[in-house]
Amino acid sequence: MRRVTLTRFLIEEQRAKGAIEGDLRLLVEVVARACKSISNAISRGSLTGSLGATDSENVQGEVQKKLDVISNEILLEANEWGGHLAAMASEEMDLPYAIPHRYPKGEYLLLFDPLDGSSNIDVNVAVGTIFSVLRCPEGVDEPDERHFLQPGARQVCAGYAVYGPTTLLVLTVGDGVHTFTLDRELGSFVLTQENLQIPADTKEYSINASNQRHWEAPVQRYVGELLAGKTGPLGKDYNMRWVASMVADVHRILSRGGIFMYPRDAREPGKPGKLRLMYEANPMAFIVEQAGGAATNGHQRILDLVPTTLHERVAVFLGSRNEVERVTGYHAAAR
Ligand code: AHG
Ligand code: MN
Ligand code: MN
Repeated sequence: MRRVTLTRFLIEEQRAKGAIEGDLRLLVEVVARACKSISNAISRGSLTGSLGATDSENVQGEVQKKLDVISNEILLEANEWGGHLAAMASEEMDLPYAIPHRYPKGEYLLLFDPLDGSSNIDVNVAVGTIFSVLRCPEGVDEPDERHFLQPGARQVCAGYAVYGPTTLLVLTVGDGVHTFTLDRELGSFVLTQENLQIPADTKEYSINASNQRHWEAPVQRYVGELLAGKTGPLGKDYNMRWVASMVADVHRILSRGGIFMYPRDAREPGKPGKLRLMYEANPMAFIVEQAGGAATNGHQRILDLVPTTLHERVAVFLGSRNEVERVTGYHAAAR
């Protein structure tokens, strides 16, 4: 059997299609290496005393878990010295992280959610890392927040790692979506699935139903129809799954279809949603579209949204195309 490691895959992609530049290849390899370290830290759990919370909060006002901080540090340290980045931004840091002056600078901007689903760490349920890569605007030497505020359609690469029963890396450089499985004995990621495709139709949905009373009318209508099943307007029974780690819920959708929703709700009327546009919604939307699915905020394609702040939030509907179009259509009809 031909065994293709991540390194070989990236080199062949670069040769065959010119799809990846040298520095981007280095970037992906460094992020993958950082994900291996995070995977290791997570899998050792209580043995190293790394479970539980810190006494600090992030910019979103969320209490940071020890592993949120550890994962953030691992990604910063791995990526600061290689010369491939102009700056980094993280869900766990108020401001962008400048590359220290002692290191060379590159042309890419890296954004990440170092640990997604961190409420699941202490109960031993799958968590992950999500990342997004943009180009630093030309002529900008010291990028600041403004230079990150590019629509998701400009991403050159996005991916996530899932730390579940196996550790997986799912990646796109704009040329389909591919999965790599961590071979712990060899220490390398091995290509295990090429060109993932999300079926256009599905019988599975994913939403935190405890927020139902706070949802807006179009979401009430849509979920009401899903619940009505066979005898309702959609004419079929649906199943529901909610892991509460976006990586795990999105990975299930990439594996067998489905629709994932985190709508805007009335709990915090000033906020357009819970999930973060630049660290969660944009990279996942890029991956989902590359796999033939769709991603909107109920009104517009997520990848077309122009961010106004680094930590901006957004409503998310993504996955099987026909279902995403249906719920997006219900928003338009309610206007
Ligand atoms: P994070 O751990 O990075 O803050 O993200 C958690 C997110 C996302 O992973 C998940 O889909 C959602 O929050 C879960 O929200 P609920 O707690 O409302 O279920
Ligand atoms: Mn997250
Ligand atoms: Mn997180």
